[in-house]
Amino acid sequence: MTGTTTDTFGAEIMSRIDDLAALSESPDGLTRRYLTPEHRQANDLVGRWMGDAGMTVRQDAVGNIIGRYEGVSEGLPAVLIGSHLDTVVMAGKFDGMLGVITGIACVGELNRRGRRLPFAVEVVGFGDEEGVRFQSGYLGSHALAGNFEPALLERRDADDISLAEAMTAFGLDPARVGDAARRAPDVLAYLELHIEQGPVLESQGLPVGVVTTIAGATRLAVSLTGEAGHAGTVPMTLRHDALAAAAECILAVERVCAESPNLVGTVGQIAAEPGASNVIPGSVRFTVDLRAAEDPHRTTALDELMVLLEAAAKRRGVAIEIEKVHEAASVPCDAQLSDLIAGAIERSGWRVQRLPSGAGHDAAAMAGLAPVGMVFVRCEGGVSHNPAESITAADAEAGARVLFQVLNDFPGGS
Ligand code: GLV
Ligand code: MN
Ligand code: MN
Repeated sequence: MTGTTTDTFGAEIMSRIDDLAALSESPDGLTRRYLTPEHRQANDLVGRWMGDAGMTVRQDAVGNIIGRYEGVSEGLPAVLIGSHLDTVVMAGKFDGMLGVITGIACVGELNRRGRRLPFAVEVVGFGDEEGVRFQSGYLGSHALAGNFEPALLERRDADDISLAEAMTAFGLDPARVGDAARRAPDVLAYLELHIEQGPVLESQGLPVGVVTTIAGATRLAVSLTGEAGHAGTVPMTLRHDALAAAAECILAVERVCAESPNLVGTVGQIAAEPGASNVIPGSVRFTVDLRAAEDPHRTTALDELMVLLEAAAKRRGVAIEIEKVHEAASVPCDAQLSDLIAGAIERSGWRVQRLPSGAGHDAAAMAGLAPVGMVFVRCEGGVSHNPAESITAADAEAGARVLFQVLNDFPGGS
């Protein structure tokens, strides 16, 4: 990407980001969950862009959209570039989408130059990374990496639709999810470009960085069952208030995580029943999201938390059920790919900043199949999972240049 064309990449990427952000389940902000009509629209749009960039396009057995640009001959092993097209609720528009759109921009540039590499390049728009709908992240990338967990097909969303039913409604065959799995010899490497979602690059005055490790995560679904009752008549000492018990549990999560600089913990979702101002809450469900770059920090904290939550519930005469709904070990990025990315950053004229990722990424799941490398792009104020998520066109351009350079520097690529 040199000369005048470079300046158009940032603008094209930003314009496509806006096009994708318009595909939302909610008119109030961007929400696009896995296997929804908006997911289909996103696949259609991204598939069109892939075709325009010279790729052959297909949707795989789990709903990932995949474009393939052949190398110097047909059928060569591929370098995969990917990220996700699903979002959190009331999301920012760059998380995930930037990596897919930038991958397409890089292939489009190869195509414009009429260049074929000694390997194929594929761009993947994963259908589910955030795990919002079925409370299990990486469904798309796990399936592609051959690690889809069939028991998840029975998992139900908030509308009581199972994953298997949602797949069928989307036109997929749940019995054939295994067909999405790729063979290791066919995949040389997996590259992902993503916004940093934190403040480090901005604080360093750098547009791009190299990811060292992707933090591990555990998600819990906690149910507390106490006793609903009259808010005016039941003395405080005789209550089994499920929401008061939940409050104690939430503070325990905060306390355990605040005790260590290596841990973060979040309760992001809570629902109390029956939900009236004059009724003592009888049951509560809430989630816990626990993360650490080093797995032992997370697993030790998890053990400690289990004891604290059970004790809080017992003290209040409230029944507790804790279900582990998602677990992902921390994943180091491949050293050689990271050096390749670092070299590309240097050659583009920037100092190399290496940094860990506190957020999860499809790269973590893809590491089960191939070496993975990640490029981070600076985002304003480090804000993410928020409609205010923002990057500049110049930084989108910088990320695209680095990714394009990595493709060119990839062994056998130049
Ligand atoms: C995905 O964005 C996650 O880290 O939860
Ligand atoms: Mn996200
Ligand atoms: Mn993401």
